[in-house]
Amino acid sequence: MPISDYEMIAAWKQVLTLSKLQTGETVTILTGASTHPQTLSTALIATQSMGAIVNRLDLLPVNGEKAQSRDLLAYLGTTPLTGNRAAIAALKESDLVLDLMTLLFSPEQHEILETGTKILLAVEPPEILVRLVPTDADRIRVRAAAERIGAAREMRVTSAGGTNLVCPLGEFPVISEYGFVDEPGRWDHWPSGFVLTFPDDGKAYGQIVIDRGDILLPQKAYVAEPIVLTVEAGYATRIEGGLDAALLSDYMASFNDKEGYAISHIGWGLQPRSRWSTLGLYDREATIGMDARAYEGNFLFSLGPNNEAGGKRTTACHIDIPLRNCTVLLDGDAVVRNGQVLDRQSR
Ligand SMILES: [Fe+2]
Repeated sequence: MPISDYEMIAAWKQVLTLSKLQTGETVTILTGASTHPQTLSTALIATQSMGAIVNRLDLLPVNGEKAQSRDLLAYLGTTPLTGNRAAIAALKESDLVLDLMTLLFSPEQHEILETGTKILLAVEPPEILVRLVPTDADRIRVRAAAERIGAAREMRVTSAGGTNLVCPLGEFPVISEYGFVDEPGRWDHWPSGFVLTFPDDGKAYGQIVIDRGDILLPQKAYVAEPIVLTVEAGYATRIEGGLDAALLSDYMASFNDKEGYAISHIGWGLQPRSRWSTLGLYDREATIGMDARAYEGNFLFSLGPNNEAGGKRTTACHIDIPLRNCTVLLDGDAVVRNGQVLDRQSR
């Protein structure tokens, strides 16, 4: 259902207020070929109404000829900022960047964040942005979960379907995604609501069963029959199953990069307003699947890079896989049991 400009402006103001936007600060709105016109027009009004100095910076698309998919998160690597010193300078000089084009993680983005510039990604369609507009309660819930991970040395994930994955922790930081940027140098994504970290490099092992009804992104498909991943020394070394396994294998093979098979981020969804079932209601190109990534009680893991958290692995291949009905244990204590978040303090 459409959203009115009034509702979008109110949502932007909520996000910008939570992000502590101050009168006189400089906001640069990054746009590209896929930017939603209503998201842009309402961002321009909301930022100006809050007294910001507002710029627009339109960047040209990259990697379209390399990616197998039109999904904005499907192909990582170079970005429109690569080698673009003028654009990088403008973003470094901004207090807040509203990324309406999907910059993705890149060395340039890290460089910009290090200057204290905040970056907020917002590319889901307006009705999803409004339904999942963040609140301070989201921040509190996600931060509490992040503290739990930060204190743990091991994450273990099990399921009745056969998942039994062990991930030693400690090498990489914990990342909280709650949908707004309230600290200098912070990156976040509206909408979100989940916590993540990365297994120690080369140390994850076990088995992951992507069960019937679990979701593959960027495929944006519900799996119809289980896919079994064997995980050894941090990599998915075998992908077995039926048609869904064959489709996943073929897609991953297109990157011709063994680093794409590494276990990347691991964590769980904490957003009660996100739904597992929403993806089935959308055309594939109408969403990037944030409901699937954030729905409460999922175990979200990824295959691909770990440079987002300061690791050395870069690869263009990036697959996010939220699993239902998993139990997540931190040093043996369950934080999610059979897909239900247990930590009542963090809800
Ligand atoms: Fe991911």
